[in-house]
Amino acid sequence: MSFRSERILRQKQKALKRRRGLILISLIVVLSLVAIILLIQKLSQRDLIKSEFYFVDSKYENIKSQVDKRSSKDFQSIVEYPNTNNNKVNQLILEALRPWQDEFFATVKKKSWNGLLANQHISYQVYRNDDRVLSLALFINQDLRGAHPISRTLFWTFDQKTGRALKLSELLDAKADQSAFWTKLVQLIQTKIRQVNHTEVDAESVEQILRGELSFVSKNETTLELPFGRGVVGPESAGEINLTLNVNDFSSELRSGLARTIFSIKHPSPTRKIQAKARLDQVLALTFDDGPGHYTVQLLDILERYRARASFFVLGSQVAARADLLKMMRAKGHEIGNHSFNHPDLTKIPLEQAEAEISKTNALIENVLKDYKVTVFRPPYGAYNQRIFQLAQKHGLAKVLWSIDTRDWADRDAAIVCNRAVASARPGAVILLHDIHASSVAAMPCILDKLGAKGYKFVTVSELFSNKLEAGETYFGN
Ligand code: NI
Repeated sequence: MSFRSERILRQKQKALKRRRGLILISLIVVLSLVAIILLIQKLSQRDLIKSEFYFVDSKYENIKSQVDKRSSKDFQSIVEYPNTNNNKVNQLILEALRPWQDEFFATVKKKSWNGLLANQHISYQVYRNDDRVLSLALFINQDLRGAHPISRTLFWTFDQKTGRALKLSELLDAKADQSAFWTKLVQLIQTKIRQVNHTEVDAESVEQILRGELSFVSKNETTLELPFGRGVVGPESAGEINLTLNVNDFSSELRSGLARTIFSIKHPSPTRKIQAKARLDQVLALTFDDGPGHYTVQLLDILERYRARASFFVLGSQVAARADLLKMMRAKGHEIGNHSFNHPDLTKIPLEQAEAEISKTNALIENVLKDYKVTVFRPPYGAYNQRIFQLAQKHGLAKVLWSIDTRDWADRDAAIVCNRAVASARPGAVILLHDIHASSVAAMPCILDKLGAKGYKFVTVSELFSNKLEAGETYFGN
């Protein structure tokens, strides 16, 4: 190759290199521009919130639905709430909604999860809308991208004339003793929760919710509902807790003027016997469930030492093997009650099966204890419904629940069980214990000592109610 041609070749190579460099630089510039444009687009899309706000006629008289739809790349929110003729009602609903909405939008703004859409859906239902009351519920559902989904129900019954939200507590006669009503409701709630996940909710905190600003739902003149939904009166894991009450079952408590204007309550005629109340002097009923068991002999000794009588709600399945214990109980003046044969939730099994659980156990006890008639029954888990009520009545049994739960099955610690029983003891109370746990039996001397020192006498459930228990009725104690 000549020197000249070699030089030309070198120049060509240099030019090629320069051109390559230029191409690379412009490629980088173009790519960065594209990236910037895409990013800007993306950012502006994120902030782009589409919103619609409008009224539509609802299927309810004098109520429009106010619809507030908002969406962006990150969330979708559909909120529908009622707009009534009463400004006070509208204001209250808006105020109740606001914190939930604010929280949702604040959370959506704060965090960004790639591609997952946050959802909010709020809707409502009107249950009753007559000349006296407007009763409705708002359902709040929020799903923040896989985080714990929120599901809440807010509910009210408004006075149509004043627009005021009525409180549950206003349905009771302010001058009467209201404690029985609250105890019954708390028991119903505790039972529901216990049936679902075997947790015990604190009676005091539930009662506080009930007695507070809580309103209620009324679908008609005979029902009263408390659709708490999830996580209000119990843990989220217990699911929806909704109570439906027949006002006639609470005719002796729902006695305020307000209750009379909203509901049609058949007050018992004076000829009908009023349900026996627990005594109010220094007496208590100790009750022992699920036995007789391994520690029952020891318990009978302890009770005798303290001259205490008690009621034993025994399982039919334990009776045949421990007939001697039953006879011993009877000889020492204790009361023997029916706690089913196998301890199932009677509300969840076929009726014939539930009846067999009750009748078989009655027959077994009465076969062991000649001349003894079983008159008290405690449904397993405290679970009952109208059908169980009828079964109990048919078999001549009064349902006995309790007013103090020592939770001795949860805390197998004698000191804790003793403290709990002593701290919550009050005249006329029915205390729940289980004689199948060593710790519960071990707690008894402490309980009997301390309550004895306060002047308490220990009687059977029947004695606590002055031997006036009636078949099919339900008794809780004070
Ligand atoms: Ni039990």
